[in-house]
Amino acid sequence: MLSEALHKKFDQLVSRYPLKRSAIVPLLLYAQDEVGCVSEEVIAEVARRVDVRPIEVIEVIGYYSMLHRQPLGKYNFQVCTNISCMLRGADDIFDYCKTKLGIKHKQTTPDGRFSLEEVECLGACTGAPAMQVNYDFYENLTPAKIDAVIDDLKKK
Ligand code: FES
Repeated sequence: MLSEALHKKFDQLVSRYPLKRSAIVPLLLYAQDEVGCVSEEVIAEVARRVDVRPIEVIEVIGYYSMLHRQPLGKYNFQVCTNISCMLRGADDIFDYCKTKLGIKHKQTTPDGRFSLEEVECLGACTGAPAMQVNYDFYENLTPAKIDAVIDDLKKK
């Protein structure tokens, strides 16, 4: 069940665009923040709001790595391994995260606290290797920085 606040946000977003379907991504992002993932209910509601078929919403979800059909951990580690990051050791950083968190690509820790993904460019190439945890960016990563981030998040 989507909240009243989310329905109001949907009203506001849909009215902002000349073409309703242009609101699909922002609608999905706000819904995902509330629900924890892009559920079937969210897909149906977004499709209804912008007058498209649910499959068209699903196609959009398939394109954007920040949209998830399944619930993620409380903290979602998105480690970039694209070219700039790769050249500066991103594969080792991603392997380190896998070992440290005890999970692999697109997995979540049993306590639901952390999830991990290998992703495409985050637009933070000047700080390669980079990762995003929820809405926070971390750059020039090293194993020590990863340790510090995880330790900090465990305290929250
Ligand atoms: S290549 Fe990693 S942030 Fe751009």
